Amino acid sequence: MEQNATVSMPRIGDKAPSFKAVTTQGEINFPEQYAGKWVILFSHPADFTPVCTSEFMTFASMEAKFTELNCQLVGLSVDGLYSHIAWLRTIKDKIEYKGMKNVEVKFPLIEDITMNVAKAYGMMQPGESSTKAVRAVFFIDPKGIIRTIIYYPLSMGRNFDELLRVLQALQTADAFGVATPADWRPGDDVIVPTAGSCGVAKDRMDGKEAGVTCHDWFFCTKKIDKEKVLSTIKKK
Ligand code: BEZ
Repeated sequence: MEQNATVSMPRIGDKAPSFKAVTTQGEINFPEQYAGKWVILFSHPADFTPVCTSEFMTFASMEAKFTELNCQLVGLSVDGLYSHIAWLRTIKDKIEYKGMKNVEVKFPLIEDITMNVAKAYGMMQPGESSTKAVRAVFFIDPKGIIRTIIYYPLSMGRNFDELLRVLQALQTADAFGVATPADWRPGDDVIVPTAGSCGVAKDRMDGKEAGVTCHDWFFCTKKIDKEKVLSTIKKK
């Protein structure tokens, strides 16, 4: 492919492209078989590489936190199945890193030697590499809609606390009909929708709407307790 050729890439709000694939956990029918669940589909450049190894150990060690939020992790690289199996076995049997050892990767890792899936998801970015997928992360909601996309270059390991925060923020926005401000974490104030009529806006500004604080007419926040956020999104 020419380096700057136009490629179609899924966008936020699009339906996640469907595909069938072979994984380390058997065949999958994506995203249909995960209907009703959140899914994080993420790519890594190559098996048996150090940044990717640190990422897999970290993500696998945190998997329970994502499962609790009804979220399935699905990995992908353009390596073959036997490479995936050998690499994950090496991680489990041999690698000790930052206090993590015997780490078993239980989520499916897609083999994509044809690069068909990587191309359909815009994970092949030839300016960065024409043979390896970049580090892409797609958050897909229970209806199969792409809700957030993050790309990182080959050299940079992802921050998995941030990926957890993104999932929590998406679920909180859906559950409470709110938006989340900069650096939000569960327990921090959330942003309430701008009031639809002058009367409501004035009541808010005058402090008459219980629990709502306005910094100006277009910027109002309220508290939702951390326990309430976490117990609500854990049920989603
Ligand atoms: C890594 O995971 O260490 C890596 C993979 C591809 C290119 C550069 C680094």
